[in-house]
Amino acid sequence: MRKLLFAAILCIPAIAAADGKATYDKMCASCHGADGKGNESKAKILKIDAAVLNLGRPESAKMTRDELRTQLLQGKNKMPAYEKKLQPADVDPVLDYAMELAKAIRGK
Ligand code: HEC
Repeated sequence: MRKLLFAAILCIPAIAAADGKATYDKMCASCHGADGKGNESKAKILKIDAAVLNLGRPESAKMTRDELRTQLLQGKNKMPAYEKKLQPADVDPVLDYAMELAKAIRGK
C-alpha cells in the first residue's frame, strides 16, 4: 500500500506538468504556424506583414526571455494579451516551446 501511494505521488507532477506544445498548437499556431514561421493567410486577415508572425525573426532574437514573457502576457500590436487566457502554469511551458521553435528557425 505504501509503495502504491509513493508511486501515485511520483505521478502527480507528470500529470500536472503543462504541455507547452499542446498549448502552442491550440492557442498560438493559428498565427505563428505549427513550426513558428508564421501563418501567411492569417497575416493577410490581420493585415500585417507575415514576417512579424515568424518567431525566429531577427528582432525577437534580441529580446530577453523576460521581455518575451511580458509581451506574451500583455500583448503587443496584433499579438493578443494572454494574461487572462492562459493558466499561470501554462505560461512558461508555452513560452519555452515558442522559444525552442524560434531557435530551430534561426538554426542555433
Ligand atoms: C492573433 C494572432 C496571434 C496569436 C494567436 C498569437 N500571437 Fe504571438 N504574436 C503575434 C504578433 C502579430 C506578434 C508581433 C507583435 C509585434 O511586435 O508587432 C507576436 C509576437 C510574439 C512573440 C514575440 C516574438 C516576436 O518576434 O515579436 C512571442 C514570443 C509570441 N508572439 C508568442 C506567442 C504565443 C506563445 C502564443 C500563444 C499562447 C501567441 N504568440 C499567439 C500574433 C499572435
